[in-house]
Amino acid sequence: MAIIAPSLLAADFGHLTREVEMINRSQAGWLHIDVMDGVFVPNISFGFPVLKSVQPLVQKPLDVHLMIINPQNYVQAFADAGAEYLSVHIEATAHLHRLVHQIKECGMKAGVAINPHTPVASLEDIAHDIDLVCMMSVNPGFGGQKFIPHTYTKLEQLKALRNRSGASFLIEIDGGVNAENAPKLIALGADVLVAGQFVFSSADPVKTISDLHELSAAVN
Ligand code: DX5
Ligand code: ZN
Repeated sequence: MAIIAPSLLAADFGHLTREVEMINRSQAGWLHIDVMDGVFVPNISFGFPVLKSVQPLVQKPLDVHLMIINPQNYVQAFADAGAEYLSVHIEATAHLHRLVHQIKECGMKAGVAINPHTPVASLEDIAHDIDLVCMMSVNPGFGGQKFIPHTYTKLEQLKALRNRSGASFLIEIDGGVNAENAPKLIALGADVLVAGQFVFSSADPVKTISDLHELSAAVN
Protein backbone atom coordinates (compact mmCIF):
# COMPACT_ATOMS: atom_id res chain seq x y z
CA MET A 1 0.00 0.00 0.00
CA ALA A 2 1.71 3.21 -1.14
CA ILE A 3 1.99 6.25 1.07
CA ILE A 4 0.55 9.37 -0.55
CA ALA A 5 2.55 12.50 0.26
CA PRO A 6 0.96 15.72 -1.02
CA SER A 7 3.52 18.46 -1.66
CA LEU A 8 2.93 21.71 0.21
CA LEU A 9 4.61 23.58 -2.65
CA ALA A 10 1.35 23.38 -4.61
CA ALA A 11 -0.83 24.62 -1.73
CA ASP A 12 -2.50 28.03 -1.54
CA PHE A 13 -0.08 29.99 0.65
CA GLY A 14 -2.72 32.57 1.43
CA HIS A 15 -4.70 29.87 3.23
CA LEU A 16 -2.08 27.57 4.69
CA THR A 17 -4.09 26.64 7.78
CA ARG A 18 -7.02 25.55 5.63
CA GLU A 19 -4.71 23.56 3.34
CA VAL A 20 -3.07 21.79 6.28
CA GLU A 21 -6.47 20.98 7.78
CA MET A 22 -7.41 19.43 4.45
CA ILE A 23 -4.26 17.25 4.59
CA ASN A 24 -5.08 16.25 8.17
CA ARG A 25 -8.52 14.95 7.33
CA SER A 26 -7.35 13.25 4.13
CA GLN A 27 -5.75 9.84 3.68
CA ALA A 28 -2.36 11.46 3.08
CA GLY A 29 0.32 9.47 4.84
CA TRP A 30 2.92 12.24 4.92
CA LEU A 31 3.22 15.92 4.04
CA HIS A 32 6.05 16.57 1.55
CA ILE A 33 7.95 19.83 2.09
CA ASP A 34 10.08 21.19 -0.77
CA VAL A 35 12.84 23.56 0.31
CA MET A 36 14.62 25.34 -2.58
CA ASP A 37 17.47 27.81 -2.34
CA GLY A 38 17.65 29.36 -5.81
CA VAL A 39 21.20 27.96 -6.19
CA PHE A 40 20.91 24.18 -6.37
CA VAL A 41 17.67 24.66 -8.30
CA PRO A 42 16.49 27.73 -10.27
CA ASN A 43 13.69 28.56 -7.85
CA ILE A 44 13.19 29.66 -4.24
CA SER A 45 10.34 28.15 -2.25
CA PHE A 46 10.18 28.68 1.50
CA GLY A 47 12.22 28.07 4.61
CA PHE A 48 12.07 27.87 8.39
CA PRO A 49 9.45 30.53 9.19
CA VAL A 50 6.87 28.75 7.02
CA LEU A 51 7.87 25.31 8.27
CA LYS A 52 7.70 26.42 11.89
CA SER A 53 4.22 27.82 11.50
CA VAL A 54 2.92 24.81 9.60
CA GLN A 55 4.53 22.09 11.76
CA PRO A 56 2.30 22.46 14.86
CA LEU A 57 -0.81 22.24 12.69
CA VAL A 58 0.16 19.09 10.76
CA GLN A 59 -0.89 15.71 12.12
CA LYS A 60 1.17 13.75 9.58
CA PRO A 61 4.91 13.09 9.40
CA LEU A 62 6.88 15.82 7.65
CA ASP A 63 8.88 14.56 4.69
CA VAL A 64 11.37 17.34 3.97
CA HIS A 65 13.09 17.42 0.57
CA LEU A 66 16.08 19.76 0.51
CA MET A 67 17.02 21.21 -2.86
CA ILE A 68 19.82 23.33 -1.44
CA ILE A 69 23.59 23.47 -1.52
CA ASN A 70 25.48 22.88 1.74
CA PRO A 71 22.65 20.86 3.32
CA GLN A 72 25.04 19.78 6.10
CA ASN A 73 24.76 23.28 7.58
CA TYR A 74 21.02 22.96 8.25
CA VAL A 75 20.50 19.42 9.52
CA GLN A 76 19.95 20.33 13.18
CA ALA A 77 17.67 23.21 12.21
CA PHE A 78 15.40 20.87 10.24
CA ALA A 79 15.34 18.42 13.15
CA ASP A 80 14.29 21.31 15.40
CA ALA A 81 11.62 22.29 12.87
CA GLY A 82 10.02 18.85 13.18
CA ALA A 83 11.21 16.96 10.09
CA GLU A 84 10.74 13.19 10.35
CA TYR A 85 12.39 12.38 7.04
CA LEU A 86 15.14 14.62 5.69
CA SER A 87 16.21 14.01 2.09
CA VAL A 88 19.33 15.57 0.59
CA HIS A 89 20.42 15.50 -3.03
CA ILE A 90 23.31 13.24 -3.91
CA GLU A 91 24.35 15.94 -6.41
CA ALA A 92 24.56 18.60 -3.66
CA THR A 93 27.14 17.07 -1.37
CA ALA A 94 30.62 15.61 -1.62
CA HIS A 95 30.28 13.74 1.68
CA LEU A 96 27.01 11.88 1.49
CA HIS A 97 27.92 9.16 3.99
CA ARG A 98 28.83 11.69 6.65
CA LEU A 99 25.69 13.71 5.96
CA VAL A 100 23.37 10.68 6.12
CA HIS A 101 24.77 9.78 9.53
CA GLN A 102 24.53 13.40 10.68
CA ILE A 103 20.81 13.29 9.81
CA LYS A 104 20.30 10.07 11.77
CA GLU A 105 22.25 11.37 14.76
CA CYS A 106 19.82 14.28 14.89
CA GLY A 107 16.96 11.77 15.26
CA MET A 108 15.57 11.91 11.73
CA LYS A 109 15.23 9.31 9.01
CA ALA A 110 17.70 9.88 6.19
CA GLY A 111 16.67 10.16 2.57
CA VAL A 112 18.74 10.61 -0.57
CA ALA A 113 17.23 12.34 -3.61
CA ILE A 114 18.54 11.71 -7.12
CA ASN A 115 17.98 13.83 -10.22
CA PRO A 116 16.62 12.29 -13.45
CA HIS A 117 20.11 12.00 -14.98
CA THR A 118 21.78 10.49 -11.92
CA PRO A 119 22.34 6.73 -12.25
CA VAL A 120 20.68 4.43 -9.75
CA ALA A 121 24.04 2.70 -9.40
CA SER A 122 25.38 5.77 -7.56
CA LEU A 123 23.29 4.60 -4.56
CA GLU A 124 24.96 1.20 -4.38
CA ASP A 125 27.35 2.01 -1.55
CA ILE A 126 24.94 4.06 0.55
CA ALA A 127 21.91 1.75 0.20
CA HIS A 128 22.32 0.15 3.62
CA ASP A 129 22.63 3.48 5.42
CA ILE A 130 19.46 5.16 4.24
CA ASP A 131 15.75 5.03 4.99
CA LEU A 132 14.43 6.56 1.77
CA VAL A 133 15.36 7.21 -1.85
CA CYS A 134 13.55 10.16 -3.38
CA MET A 135 13.69 9.47 -7.09
CA MET A 136 13.02 12.62 -9.08
CA SER A 137 10.64 12.05 -11.96
CA VAL A 138 11.02 15.70 -13.08
CA ASN A 139 13.98 18.05 -12.92
CA PRO A 140 13.68 19.58 -9.45
CA GLY A 141 12.78 23.23 -9.02
CA PHE A 142 9.13 23.53 -9.92
CA GLY A 143 5.80 21.90 -9.30
CA GLY A 144 3.44 21.04 -12.12
CA GLN A 145 5.99 19.59 -14.54
CA LYS A 146 5.56 16.63 -16.85
CA PHE A 147 6.50 13.17 -15.59
CA ILE A 148 9.64 11.73 -17.25
CA PRO A 149 8.82 8.17 -18.44
CA HIS A 150 12.42 6.94 -18.04
CA THR A 151 11.58 6.94 -14.31
CA TYR A 152 9.89 3.55 -14.80
CA THR A 153 13.19 1.99 -15.89
CA LYS A 154 15.05 3.61 -13.00
CA LEU A 155 12.41 2.42 -10.56
CA GLU A 156 12.93 -1.17 -11.74
CA GLN A 157 16.69 -0.73 -11.38
CA LEU A 158 16.30 0.68 -7.88
CA LYS A 159 14.01 -2.11 -6.78
CA ALA A 160 16.54 -4.63 -8.13
CA LEU A 161 19.34 -2.87 -6.25
CA ARG A 162 17.30 -3.04 -3.05
CA ASN A 163 16.51 -6.74 -3.49
CA ARG A 164 20.07 -7.61 -4.41
CA SER A 165 21.61 -5.71 -1.52
CA GLY A 166 19.03 -6.58 1.12
CA ALA A 167 18.68 -2.89 1.96
CA SER A 168 15.33 -1.65 3.27
CA PHE A 169 14.92 1.96 2.13
CA LEU A 170 11.53 3.17 0.93
CA ILE A 171 11.25 4.25 -2.70
CA GLU A 172 9.58 7.63 -3.23
CA ILE A 173 8.66 9.04 -6.64
CA ASP A 174 8.59 12.83 -6.83
CA GLY A 175 7.30 14.95 -9.71
CA GLY A 176 4.42 14.86 -12.15
CA VAL A 177 2.62 12.02 -10.40
CA ASN A 178 -1.04 11.66 -11.36
CA ALA A 179 -3.77 9.03 -11.69
CA GLU A 180 -2.39 7.93 -15.06
CA ASN A 181 1.15 7.05 -14.00
CA ALA A 182 0.44 6.10 -10.37
CA PRO A 183 -0.86 2.55 -11.04
CA LYS A 184 2.28 1.64 -12.98
CA LEU A 185 4.55 3.25 -10.37
CA ILE A 186 2.84 1.28 -7.61
CA ALA A 187 2.93 -1.94 -9.61
CA LEU A 188 6.68 -1.44 -10.14
CA GLY A 189 7.23 -1.08 -6.41
CA ALA A 190 7.00 2.61 -5.45
CA ASP A 191 6.36 2.94 -1.70
CA VAL A 192 5.67 6.67 -1.57
CA LEU A 193 4.07 8.91 -4.19
CA VAL A 194 4.53 12.67 -3.91
CA ALA A 195 1.78 14.65 -5.61
CA GLY A 196 1.60 18.42 -5.77
CA GLN A 197 -0.40 19.98 -8.52
CA PHE A 198 -2.50 16.88 -9.17
CA VAL A 199 -3.83 17.07 -5.61
CA PHE A 200 -4.04 20.79 -4.92
CA SER A 201 -5.39 21.84 -8.33
CA SER A 202 -8.16 19.27 -8.24
CA ALA A 203 -11.73 20.21 -7.43
CA ASP A 204 -11.76 17.98 -4.36
CA PRO A 205 -8.23 17.40 -3.00
CA VAL A 206 -9.39 15.09 -0.18
CA LYS A 207 -11.07 12.86 -2.75
CA THR A 208 -8.07 13.02 -5.08
CA ILE A 209 -5.82 11.83 -2.26
CA SER A 210 -8.22 9.04 -1.36
CA ASP A 211 -8.50 8.03 -5.04
CA LEU A 212 -4.69 7.74 -5.25
CA HIS A 213 -4.69 5.81 -2.01
CA GLU A 214 -7.39 3.39 -3.16
CA LEU A 215 -5.68 2.94 -6.47
CA SER A 216 -2.66 1.69 -4.58
CA ALA A 217 -4.88 -0.69 -2.58
CA ALA A 218 -6.28 -2.05 -5.84
CA VAL A 219 -2.86 -2.60 -7.40
CA ASN A 220 -1.35 -4.34 -4.36
C1 DX5 B 1 9.94 19.46 -7.56
C2 DX5 B 1 9.51 19.07 -6.16
C3 DX5 B 1 8.29 18.21 -6.14
C4 DX5 B 1 7.06 18.93 -6.61
C5 DX5 B 1 6.00 17.93 -6.95
O1 DX5 B 1 11.11 20.17 -7.50
O2 DX5 B 1 10.54 18.36 -5.52
O3 DX5 B 1 8.10 17.68 -4.84
O4 DX5 B 1 6.57 19.79 -5.61
O5 DX5 B 1 4.93 18.62 -7.51
P1 DX5 B 1 4.11 18.09 -8.77
O6 DX5 B 1 3.39 16.84 -8.29
O7 DX5 B 1 3.20 19.22 -9.07
O8 DX5 B 1 5.09 17.76 -9.85
ZN1 ZN C 1 9.99 17.21 -3.64
